Amino acid sequence: MTAITDKGTGTGKAAAPLVALTDVSKSYGNVRALRDVSLEVHAGEITCVLGDNGAGKSTLIKIIAGLHPHDSGGYAVAGEQVRHASPRDALDRGIATVYQDLAVVPLMPVWRNFFLGSEPTRGRGPLRRLDVAEMRGTTHAALLRMGIDLRDVDQQIGTLSGGERQCVAIARAVHFGARVLVLDEPTAALGVKQSGMVLKYVAAARDAGLGVVLITHNPHHAYLVGDRFILLKRGTMSGSHLKRDITLDELTREMAGGSELDELTHELSRTPAAGKAAAGDPPAEDLPAATDPEKRA
Ligand SMILES: Nc1ncnc2c1ncn2[C@@H]1O[C@H](COP(=O)(O)OP(=O)(O)O)[C@@H](O)[C@H]1O
Ligand SMILES: [Mg+2]
Repeated sequence: MTAITDKGTGTGKAAAPLVALTDVSKSYGNVRALRDVSLEVHAGEITCVLGDNGAGKSTLIKIIAGLHPHDSGGYAVAGEQVRHASPRDALDRGIATVYQDLAVVPLMPVWRNFFLGSEPTRGRGPLRRLDVAEMRGTTHAALLRMGIDLRDVDQQIGTLSGGERQCVAIARAVHFGARVLVLDEPTAALGVKQSGMVLKYVAAARDAGLGVVLITHNPHHAYLVGDRFILLKRGTMSGSHLKRDITLDELTREMAGGSELDELTHELSRTPAAGKAAAGDPPAEDLPAATDPEKRA
């Protein structure tokens, strides 16, 4: 029997990441959206991209997805430099992207959305028609494989919760053979419970051997599942860490901008509260109002 080699490689370059960006920059006219950003995506790992609004997260995703070309820097897929002409190009290389505003048709059944654009048919010529039974069965099975037991794949996808729709999109990418799954803030609009559900399926995609890029501005969500963390700040990379090198506290502080957070903490704690009078001070009610300027010294 031949030895089973590492999943998905076979190029001889076992160590080459599925996706590697090196010093990628991108401008929109005068706006420098990204400057010298680098990241790696490995099979069976989750790379998190963290940053505030306007940090350049979506721009980064659009470059990976083949929607926008980058201006400079390197983009390699499994060790080979590429230049995607369109999202179709990226998809053909196994890079599937789930955008925040999921492209679903709300009134169509779940199975129909699952197969949108890739419908199997049966029969030939004028007798060719959609193989509905096949699509229903496959959708149910594919969702179940990800641990999603949907009561009824005939229900309109618009009746699912935001979290469930994200999960269907993730299961879809896995089913159609994606090697890299890119998710743009899948938990941004969700409550705690639904966020947990989505993160569970993000982890399931990772366990299925995919390389995942998870965009988020929530360090708690990132730290729960992430293996690598890239921090973006106004288009530049302000940090790049492996999970073993950083704690959740450090990640949160760095994300919030450590010194800015300290300043804010200081400002907020200045509000004088009666109960906070230092021990030894006279009780607050004994002080005539506004006679304590020396207390500020
Ligand atoms: N199509 C565009 N045209 C011009 N400027 C853009 C475009 N897309 C994004 N930008 C600008 O690039 C910067 C990064 O935006 P974006 O990547 O959407 O950040 P994020 O997703 O982190 O909020 C912002 O200043 C934004 O205004
Ligand atoms: Mg965005």
